[in-house]
Amino acid sequence: MTVENMPSVHAAITSRRSIRRFLPTEVPQDALVRILTGAGYAPSGHNIQPWKVYVVRDATKQRITDGILKAIATEPEEAHQPEYDYYPTEWFEPYLERRRRVGHTLYSLLGIERSDKAGRDRQMEENFRFFGAPVGIFVSFDRRLATGTFMDIGMFLQNIFVGARGEGLDTCGQAIFTWYHKVIREILPMGEEELLVCGLSIGYADPSAPENRLFTEKLALSDYCTFLD
Ligand SMILES: Cc1cc2nc3c(=O)[nH]c(=O)nc-3n(C[C@H](O)[C@H](O)[C@H](O)COP(=O)(O)O)c2cc1C
Repeated sequence: MTVENMPSVHAAITSRRSIRRFLPTEVPQDALVRILTGAGYAPSGHNIQPWKVYVVRDATKQRITDGILKAIATEPEEAHQPEYDYYPTEWFEPYLERRRRVGHTLYSLLGIERSDKAGRDRQMEENFRFFGAPVGIFVSFDRRLATGTFMDIGMFLQNIFVGARGEGLDTCGQAIFTWYHKVIREILPMGEEELLVCGLSIGYADPSAPENRLFTEKLALSDYCTFLD
């Protein structure tokens, strides 16, 4: 990486945002291969490269959508739980407010009232339709590894998110898929030892979709960084 290229790296990082409505336009396989190869350059403690990745399109993607929507319609919510806690059980400030704000902004862009539980559920289910994206990606690692592996996977995921920008593509990380790992496991060739960390959708953003007008607020550097001499 040369100094001359640095501004484009910053642009790729800052232009990334979560997209929740995609065009049906196909994602070129060579772009996907470049993104995922680049993701594999992520650092990992002791270079263990713990990521396992499944890319789904067409029939396999549809089976995942159908399987999860069927589970939602026919099985109790408690039957489907993630294998790790991404979120705290009790939210507290300042995180509670930040979390509320993103939900509130998304639903108001979509015209879904706070009291409209069915409307919110319908929007939640769009996650499982990959927000219309032609490609879904699932990332797992061997559960016998330790908590630090989540850092390695986070870096791998961010390489996908930012690498996608370099190809003119957009993404949405989707931890929500981890609730349905049992359904996903029946469809993907995942080993028993694999822990599903995250799903994501990738494709071309639909510029006319109201949900894609969501630009989340970012903190000022001084809110989270202390420079010490
Ligand atoms: C690991 C991870 C999991 C996420 N899971 C979901 C999800 O299940 N559904 C969803 O709509 N957004 C999901 N998001 C997107 C976040 O809501 C989003 O990153 C956040 O609101 C900040 O907005 P931005 O990505 O546009 O900067 C996830 C993001 C990350 C990093």
